[in-house]
Amino acid sequence: MTGKQGGQWRSMYKRLILGTLLTGCMILLYCFSIQQINFNPPEVPVPYSCAHSPSNLYPKPATKSQNNSSQQCSPKVDIMFMKTHKTASSTFLNILFRFGEKHRLQFAFPDSRNDFFYPSFFQRSQVKDYKPGMCFNIICNHMRFNAAEIEKLLPLDTTYITILRDPAELFESSFHYFGRLAPFTWKIPGDDKLKEFLLDPHSYFDPEGYNSFYLKNLLFFDFGQDNTLEPEDPRVEEGIRLISERFHLVMLVEHFEESLILLKDALCWDMDDLLFFKLNARKGSTVSKLTPELRARALKWNAIDWKLYQHFNQTFWKRVDAYGRLRMAKDVAELRRRNREMASICIEGGHAVDASSIQETDMQPWQPIGEKSIMGYNLKKNVDKAHQKLCRKMLTPELQYLTELGVNLWITKLWGHVRDIINW
Ligand SMILES: *[C@@H]1O[C@H](CO)[C@@H](O)[C@H](O)[C@H]1NC(C)=O
Ligand SMILES: *[C@@H]1O[C@H](CO)[C@@H](O)[C@H](O)[C@H]1NC(C)=O
Ligand SMILES: *[C@@H]1O[C@H](CO)[C@@H](O)[C@H](O)[C@H]1NC(C)=O
Repeated sequence: MTGKQGGQWRSMYKRLILGTLLTGCMILLYCFSIQQINFNPPEVPVPYSCAHSPSNLYPKPATKSQNNSSQQCSPKVDIMFMKTHKTASSTFLNILFRFGEKHRLQFAFPDSRNDFFYPSFFQRSQVKDYKPGMCFNIICNHMRFNAAEIEKLLPLDTTYITILRDPAELFESSFHYFGRLAPFTWKIPGDDKLKEFLLDPHSYFDPEGYNSFYLKNLLFFDFGQDNTLEPEDPRVEEGIRLISERFHLVMLVEHFEESLILLKDALCWDMDDLLFFKLNARKGSTVSKLTPELRARALKWNAIDWKLYQHFNQTFWKRVDAYGRLRMAKDVAELRRRNREMASICIEGGHAVDASSIQETDMQPWQPIGEKSIMGYNLKKNVDKAHQKLCRKMLTPELQYLTELGVNLWITKLWGHVRDIINW
């Protein structure tokens, strides 16, 4: 063995040992932090509303375009956003964060990490600095939905919103992003593990396996339901009914702009509140990686999510009809125009770039394990004063924004450092 090779081996062993040690520590800390919060707070009735009173701290300006008496309303600020996985929800969170800052709203954030101890069910005791009787306006981090606990946290006038995505695309994305976290995928042979899995899912899938929920009916699971039911099981219809009764607005990733316009209408927001850049996008994600055959298999495998999606696709378009197709088309065109305008003001080169080309670490998005496939942006250097703040906020990735809003993310960050050290 030459000296150079020996050095390589040594450094690899060093990394391996360091990695194992750190991962061990992480797991211990993680278990400890979960145990810490297992207490049952006393029950205090929640308020009707947590909007500042008088509710019009920021009344809508009566501009020319809003001179209609029907449009005089004040924006709704009490919001439960059920953040589903792999559904453009990082982009939506950026919108919510800016809205929350603008109206000085109180967010119910998790403590020490960026989710509410997912995949365990949401408990209000997981909320940072929670005390019974407190007023919170917005909750929007990943959680496993638990209606009973949410009701004991948020005011009665809370608007429940969520977002769904075509289950075949969602499955593909989840497989890419979380596949390696589910040990049963390690034994799938070949380079195209997704295809291999879909050709015979039952021979690989282990419903009891660690993290297996990421790879079957993940949407239904996120809503707190049982993702391993047979699609014909009456509990599936029951689950869908519960979701449709609970949520005031169910948006669709495939029609993101239309969804935002419906949101604006439902919550009495401004067009300004809807501006966004696509965050957390994957390289080459604009084209589906699924052949028609694999797509059909993915839908069959995720049959519950497919039922869920089809149900809310129906209600979505009924709502668009009620809003007016022409009016919707006009508003979407306007939103797109405004977003393009912002992109040309804020973004260097006007589009997203590979992680390796992002200059500021503050603008680096979080990456899935084992690769750097998530794209990000460079903020233009000479943005005019009037737009500087907004541009920076619009481009700030989720974890950095959470930190800015005062969330302590030590577990999430430590995990990131461990991954950097072992180069995973
Ligand atoms: C009021 O709303 C109607 C229908 O939405 C629109 O046609 C009209 O131009 C609006 N008027 C003003 C003054 O904005
Ligand atoms: C808007 O409403 C005000 C008062 O109701 C009225 O005086 C004004 O002419 C209206 N402007 C437009 C553009 O309709
Ligand atoms: C969604 O609904 C629209 C309108 O009813 C329909 O044209 C479309 O095929 C539906 N899509 C899915 C995926 O069900």
